[in-house]
Amino acid sequence: MESAILSIRNLHAYYGKKEVLKGINLDVPKNKVTGIMGPSGCGKTTLIRCINRLHELSPSASIRGDIVLDGKSIFKMSPVELRRRIGMVFQRPNPFPTMTIYDNVIAGYILNGINLKKEEKDRIVETALKKVYLWDEVKDALRKKGTFLSGGQQQRLCIARALAMNPEILLLDEPTSALDPKATFKVEELISELKRDVTIIMVTHNVAQAGRIADYIAFLYNGELVEFGKTDDVFTRPQSEKTEEYLTGKFA
Ligand SMILES: Nc1ncnc2c1ncn2[C@@H]1O[C@H](COP(=O)(O)OP(=O)(O)O)[C@@H](O)[C@H]1O
Ligand SMILES: [Mg+2]
Repeated sequence: MESAILSIRNLHAYYGKKEVLKGINLDVPKNKVTGIMGPSGCGKTTLIRCINRLHELSPSASIRGDIVLDGKSIFKMSPVELRRRIGMVFQRPNPFPTMTIYDNVIAGYILNGINLKKEEKDRIVETALKKVYLWDEVKDALRKKGTFLSGGQQQRLCIARALAMNPEILLLDEPTSALDPKATFKVEELISELKRDVTIIMVTHNVAQAGRIADYIAFLYNGELVEFGKTDDVFTRPQSEKTEEYLTGKFA
């Protein structure tokens, strides 16, 4: 196994008394795509929201266990610093509606009160938009609102916004579930490219999509990590009956 950038250790997560994650242990390999799969309600979103400490912000939410990034517990870091190192893209494209395309890309800097010179901002915007293959499509419309773009373009803009902070890890929560097949294909291609620079943890509902782009699969069931391994191994020789049933579509 490749070196791990992130270790999840005996992680329990709760909403009130309800235990939603029941002791997850997972080493996330660096510069790979790890797909998180499992039926609706099994805890996928909660798991990735623990990783950038969003879970703690929900009322009544709590956590036990540890998550270690590059040797240090994330619970000993400032959440602001952590969220610069671990970016997140949500299920529905959510560009800031009042901001231009340009400002959306550097929103992380604006919102954190980080002042940059104009040339520096221009460079960050161009680099991030090129990484998501959006530059050619929007370079003459940078002062327009982000919401004027198509759904697929908006999601790539949101990925650019996350990448602009140079994160080490990118969390994607079903990033293509609101997109049409063509836009989905573009985002999938992009994710496969990005792993050269960033470690990707992607929740997906879509078995075929996981097969196409995930290097590793973590299968969650009812708050437990039932299976973790290389995608080929998990697909061809699942260790757990639950995984096999899920992969063959016996339950959704
Ligand atoms: N804010 C919340 N308050 C209470 N329960 C929640 C909240 N969010 C999610 N849950 C519950 O936690 C469980 C896991 O949810 P979630 O992590 O969203 O699953 P998934 O992403 O796999 O569909 C579900 O039973 C869900 O109903
Ligand atoms: Mg979810």
